[in-house]
Amino acid sequence: MDWVYIEDIAAHDGQDVEIRGWVYNKRSSGKVRFLLVRDGTGIIQATAFSAEKDALLFQQFDRLTQESSLIVRGKVRADKRAPGGFELSMTELEIVQVAAEYPITLKEHSTPFLMEHRHLWLRSSKQHAVLRVRAEVIKAVRDFFDGRGFRLMDTPILTPSACEGTTTLFETEYFDQKAYLSQSGQLYNEATAMAFGKVYCFGPTFRAEKSKTRRHLIEFWMVEPEVAFATLQDIIGLGEDLILFIMERVLTKRRLELETLERDPKPLEAIRKPFPRLTYDEAVPVLREKGSAIEWGGDFGAPEETIISELYSSPVCVTHFPTAIKAFYMQPAPENPDVVLGVDFLASEGYGEVIGGGQRIHDLALLEKRLEEHKLPREAYEWYLDLRKYGSVPHAGFGMGIERMVSWICGIKHIRETIPFPRLLYRIYP
Ligand code: 4AD
Ligand code: MG
Repeated sequence: MDWVYIEDIAAHDGQDVEIRGWVYNKRSSGKVRFLLVRDGTGIIQATAFSAEKDALLFQQFDRLTQESSLIVRGKVRADKRAPGGFELSMTELEIVQVAAEYPITLKEHSTPFLMEHRHLWLRSSKQHAVLRVRAEVIKAVRDFFDGRGFRLMDTPILTPSACEGTTTLFETEYFDQKAYLSQSGQLYNEATAMAFGKVYCFGPTFRAEKSKTRRHLIEFWMVEPEVAFATLQDIIGLGEDLILFIMERVLTKRRLELETLERDPKPLEAIRKPFPRLTYDEAVPVLREKGSAIEWGGDFGAPEETIISELYSSPVCVTHFPTAIKAFYMQPAPENPDVVLGVDFLASEGYGEVIGGGQRIHDLALLEKRLEEHKLPREAYEWYLDLRKYGSVPHAGFGMGIERMVSWICGIKHIRETIPFPRLLYRIYP
C-alpha cells in the first residue's frame, strides 16, 4: 500500500493508501467513529463504521489522544461533505505513540502561553497557513529574481562593520577581534553587483531593536537586490514588479490558506502599478493635516506610515527623505543635497514599510566625508571605498523584509507569527 500525502489525495480516489500523521481531533456520531488526521500537508477524515466488523479499529480509536502519532490505511473516497472533499474508509490503524495530554486545546489560550509553546503551536491550522504563505512568498521572490537574470550572492553574517547604524548592532567575539551580526547584505552586494551586474542576497539579518513593536523582529529575513548602473527610479520599478509578482503567486497558489486566515483578498487583488509616489516634502503637510505632530526632519513612525497608506489602495513609495535621518551610504538628490535618493515602500492597510532602499553614493570623496560624519571607522570600510576607486558607477538596490510582507499578505497585525521561531526583545525561547 502506497504512503501518500494528504495534499495529493485527489490523485488516489478509489485506491487503498497509507497516511502517516497525527490525530488532529476525533469524534463519534452514533455508530460511526471519525478521526481527523493531519500529516503536515493537510487534514483528512478517516472513518470507521462498524463496531462489530472493525472491533480492533474501535478499540484503538478509544486509546487515541489529541496529537497521537499514527499510520492509517484505507480506501480513498470522494465525499463532498468531508473537509477537503475526500474521506478515508479505514481498514487498519497503527498507533506510533499515544500522546501525553496536549497543552494546546481548542479553547482560547493567551499569546504568552502560545509563544511559550511555539514548538507545538506551529501545528495549529492558522499558524500552519501563515507559514505556508511564507514559504510561497520566499519561493516567489527567488523565482522573480532568478527569472530576471539576477545572480544569487550569499553575503556574510559575521561582519567587521555596520550597515544600518551602530545602535542596533549585535556584537560578538571573532577570535581576538570584534565582529557584528549582519544587519544587511547590502554593502557586500555593492561589490558583487560590480562583479556580476545584477545580484540579490537572501538571508537572515539581525537588529538589536530595543523598542517593543508589532513590526520589529530581532532576527528577520531580508531579500536584497543590487543593480549596477540603476537609478532610484529603476529600483522603484523593480520593487513594484516584485510586489505584484508575489501577490499574484500567493493569490493563485495559497487561496485556501488566506481563507483559513479569514484574510479578505480584495485589497491585495486591487494593487496596481504604478504605485503612488510621494516625496517626503509632500508627505509632511499631509501628515500634519491628519493629526501627526511630525516636523520637517523627523522620521516616520508607525502612525505616520499608517496615515499615508490609508490614503491609497496600492502601496505608496515615499522618496527624498532628509539626509540626516538616513544611512550614510545614501546618494543626495542632485537638486537638493538635504534629501536623499532613497525610497520606502509603505504597504497598504497600515502594514508599514515593506521595502527600503535607494541609490548609493558612488563618489569617493563624498563617501569618505559621510563615513567621517557618521563616525564610522575608515579601516573597516577600506574595501567599500575601493568600489569607488575602480570603475565606480551609479547603482541602487533595496531590501524587502519577508516577515513584513507575510504579515501584510496574511492580514496579521503582529509580526511574531510570520516566522517559525521569532526572536523578540524579551523572548529567545524556544
Ligand atoms: O530599511 P532597511 O533598514 O534597509 C536596509 O537594511 C538596506 N540596507 C536594504 C538595502 O537597500 N539593501 O530594511 C529593509 C527592510 C524594511 O523595509 C523592512 O521590511 C525590513 O527590512 N525590516 C525589518 N523587518 C522585521 N524586523 C525588523 N527589525 C526590520 N528592520 C527592517
Ligand atoms: Mg527602512
